[in-house]
Amino acid sequence: MKVVVSGTGLYTPSESISNEELVKSFNSYVDSYNEQHKEKISQGEIEPLTHSSEEFIKKASGIENRFVVDKKGILDPNRMMPSIERRSNEDVSLQAEISAIACKEALENSNNSVKDIDAVICACANLQRAYPAVAIEIQSILGIEGYAYDMNVACSSATFAYQNAVNDIISGVAKKVLVVDPEICSAHLNFKDRDGHFIFGDVCTASVLERSEADSESENFEIIGTKLKTVFSNNIRNNFGFLNRSEDSDLFSDDKLFIQQGRRVFREVVPIVSSIIEEHLEEEGLSIDDLKRLWLHQANLGMNTLIAKRLLGREPTKLEMPIVLDKYANTSSAGSIIAFHKYRNDLKEGDIGVICSFGAGYSVGSVIVQKS
Ligand code: COA
Repeated sequence: MKVVVSGTGLYTPSESISNEELVKSFNSYVDSYNEQHKEKISQGEIEPLTHSSEEFIKKASGIENRFVVDKKGILDPNRMMPSIERRSNEDVSLQAEISAIACKEALENSNNSVKDIDAVICACANLQRAYPAVAIEIQSILGIEGYAYDMNVACSSATFAYQNAVNDIISGVAKKVLVVDPEICSAHLNFKDRDGHFIFGDVCTASVLERSEADSESENFEIIGTKLKTVFSNNIRNNFGFLNRSEDSDLFSDDKLFIQQGRRVFREVVPIVSSIIEEHLEEEGLSIDDLKRLWLHQANLGMNTLIAKRLLGREPTKLEMPIVLDKYANTSSAGSIIAFHKYRNDLKEGDIGVICSFGAGYSVGSVIVQKS
């Protein structure tokens, strides 16, 4: 039996922040911190903070802009985090709300109605509550029968969920599965951290995976195979969790947000990703020359270019390796799905590409697809 991606959907928040706006707010926070602490700084008790720069951000990451659920709170130098209205238990939660928008688009693009779907997997790096599962809330507001569950493999959540969906469809427990990735990354980003305040943005992607039908009218991408790999690393870490209170740990300390050793991540993850893609192609009887497109995780332009160069033996063209992180920044597990959503219409029947995520864990997910 063949499984296809029959449609995808994308929710992009209406608000966005340019590097210029972000750096202006960060620098004004730095100035006021240094002013407030000028005595301790002059006595050498604490180090002054240093300005950020637009040039550095663009050069080090390729990021120029990010979409966010709340711009005002992030840019307020006295707050430096999104300001999100608290909702009652009776209201639809924020992640379920943005998921429903992306799911409706994926359903429409795949020529399906909610009645056709048997399962919802909500796969993302940060879930807004422990339970009930956000996926079950999404299932309820859309009116889907069957089952739903949440899962988190950080930046690889979406590709790992694709493998679960494929397996459920092949085993016969579901015919059509919705995978949805509501990534509100701005709420786990430390906007006071010069090394990383520019990294993330918010978005939601959704995909419908289903059994291939000969008479299908939608533009399908057959999943040739999935390959997952994990290797434990502390180089990307977030200590937020349900034991924090019992450990008498400060819920607002920096380690309850995203922390990374960016250089080490860069150095260690590039070889893992390129070898996983190579191995995966070989296992499927394919070679790198068969690949028309690399829809890679969107964290760092230099990292993606290096992965593509190791695979291709040359610089990739813009179309071979589409980049969305310039506009969206790193949107965790949604990044490679945004690239797949936006850059596939030019492909012809039979063309092959790979969707590949990588990130915390470390985790790598490779999904080889062929246009049918
Ligand atoms: N503005 C200006 N300068 C800055 C800065 C900022 N916002 N942040 C850091 N710098 C400076 C540093 O102080 C350092 O200066 P020095 O050389 O004088 O000491 C210099 O820039 C280099 O800093 P470094 O942190 O080594 O930058 P980098 O080139 O490694 O780029 C990342 C940082 C985070 C963009 C990069 O490491 C990266 O993207 N890594 C992979 C991350 C990743 O994929 N993570 C997965 C997340 S899911």
